[in-house]
Amino acid sequence: MKFFIAAVAFSLLAVGTAQSCSEAARFGVVTVSPTSFASRDSVTISANFTCANQLGYAPTYMDYYIEVPTNNNGHEPPVLLARRQPAAGVVSDSFTVQIPYGYYFPNASYNIVLDNTYATNGTNGSPVYQVGGVDIPVNITASVS
Ligand SMILES: *[C@@H]1O[C@H](CO)[C@@H](O)[C@H](O)[C@H]1NC(C)=O
Ligand SMILES: *[C@@H]1O[C@H](CO)[C@@H](O)[C@H](O)[C@H]1NC(C)=O
Ligand SMILES: *[C@@H]1O[C@H](CO)[C@@H](O)[C@H](O)[C@H]1NC(C)=O
Ligand SMILES: *[C@@H]1O[C@H](CO)[C@@H](O)[C@H](O)[C@H]1NC(C)=O
Repeated sequence: MKFFIAAVAFSLLAVGTAQSCSEAARFGVVTVSPTSFASRDSVTISANFTCANQLGYAPTYMDYYIEVPTNNNGHEPPVLLARRQPAAGVVSDSFTVQIPYGYYFPNASYNIVLDNTYATNGTNGSPVYQVGGVDIPVNITASVS
């Protein structure tokens, strides 16, 4: 009985101090606004790294791209939107970017992608930088000049 009460108290404490994080949130939770846009439009990208930090994927670098991960026609290389280096332990990121005048194809499946570069301990304890990606589907409505 005593043991049971102690276990309940401990689990309440754990709930109070840590978020419950799904594995899907491990590299960051990204929101993009608006999700339909053209070259020249201003788009706001926000990322929440609360769960990334908690699960051991705190970002060392954050690179944001426009990408066509599936059915890429071979002429759709990733387009860099921003490269950012956060202060240690940062829990969020938010910025507005003007969409570059890239060569966008009308029926390609575009995504805004966050590449989270995070440090892990290598086999001898030295840091190894691994990369995890988060994809947010978007529409690029037209390529304008
Ligand atoms: C970030 O994510 C955490 C965990 O899901 C959540 O508790 C928190 O409210 C989020 N922060 C913002 C600013 O959305
Ligand atoms: C894109 O559109 C062209 C014709 O406009 C079509 O031939 C091609 O199959 C389409 N590609 C995809 C991935 O839908
Ligand atoms: C990595 O190594 C450092 C120092 O040896 C240690 O403090 C840290 O907890 C380790 N991280 C992981 C995820 O094992
Ligand atoms: C992209 O456009 C299509 C057609 O208008 C729409 O159904 C879809 O919701 C849009 N997707 C996003 C992510 O805005």
